[in-house]
Amino acid sequence: MFKVLYNEKIAPGIYKMVIDAPLIAAKAKSGQFIMIRIDEAGERIPLTIADIDGKNITIVYQAVGVTTYKLAEKKNREFVSDVVGPSGHATDIRKIGTVCCVGGGVGIAELYPVAKAYKNAGNNVIVIVGARNKELLIFKKELELLGVEIFIITDDGSIGEKGFVTDVLKRVMNSGKKIDLVYAVGPGVMMEAVSNLTKSRAIKTLVSLNTVLVDGTGMCGSCRVQVGDETKFVCVDGPEFDGHLVNFKELKIRQGLFVEQEKHACKIRGIPVI
Ligand SMILES: Cc1cc2nc3c(=O)[nH]c(=O)nc-3n(C[C@H](O)[C@H](O)[C@H](O)COP(=O)(O)OP(=O)(O)OC[C@H]3O[C@@H](n4cnc5c(N)ncnc54)[C@H](O)[C@@H]3O)c2cc1C
Ligand code: FES
Repeated sequence: MFKVLYNEKIAPGIYKMVIDAPLIAAKAKSGQFIMIRIDEAGERIPLTIADIDGKNITIVYQAVGVTTYKLAEKKNREFVSDVVGPSGHATDIRKIGTVCCVGGGVGIAELYPVAKAYKNAGNNVIVIVGARNKELLIFKKELELLGVEIFIITDDGSIGEKGFVTDVLKRVMNSGKKIDLVYAVGPGVMMEAVSNLTKSRAIKTLVSLNTVLVDGTGMCGSCRVQVGDETKFVCVDGPEFDGHLVNFKELKIRQGLFVEQEKHACKIRGIPVI
């Protein structure tokens, strides 16, 4: 059993949870995730480790279906039955020059530890974050505390510029600044658009993928993704891959494989379907 120390809404439909998990906290690195199961009858879902503080880990999640809705109902000092991790490969953090970190939606929380690690390794970090509106823009304060250049962009212009993250990325690319790496995490369409943009200039681009994980150990194959001419498993080979090689078309199809079952699961539990 793992104790929930804190679980609060930080934006409409988005929650931050701090869990007492000393063994995971001692080993976890940026880019890694946990598999969490709320109770014995529950499914396992992957969530990125957004921060580590002593023996506690922080996750930030969007309530989109049965498990994340149930997670949102957890009160401080209640328990979840299983937390397994750290899973996946950590980001390969080293000093490479200028790293442009691009995040969208709840992916901004997933971007935070990576941007922090690149900064701490001595890189010049540029952060570009986007959300639908001001209310949904999370981790602004945390990112500002990193002391890096930040661009904020929203679909409706309620905070920062109006537009998409790719608009700003294009501008930064056109500014004459040499960008050594682009790291993107967020909705599939955003990571695909970022990868298409950087491919034209051959700027190395990493994307953190969010396929459907079932066992999270490389055994079931549900998380497979085509990267170049290889089949990879997001849970054990990823979650980060070369964005220029990812088959995003197939990824989208695989992400939607269980939509009907997910809708049904929400319906019978009276959970609003997103
Ligand atoms: C490596 C990785 C890290 C992730 N990190 C985060 C994070 O930090 N914050 C966050 O909000 N979300 C994250 N996700 C997505 C998150 O796992 C799903 O939103 C969650 O599983 C939804 O479960 P549900 O039962 O609430 O919703 P459901 O109704 O079951 O599903 C809603 C949607 O979530 C996705 N999904 C469902 N089950 C899974 C599953 N077992 N594995 C992956 N995706 C699934 C599908 O696209 C689905 O259409 C991550 C996914 C991966 C693969
Ligand atoms: S989740 Fe089963 S192989 Fe990756």
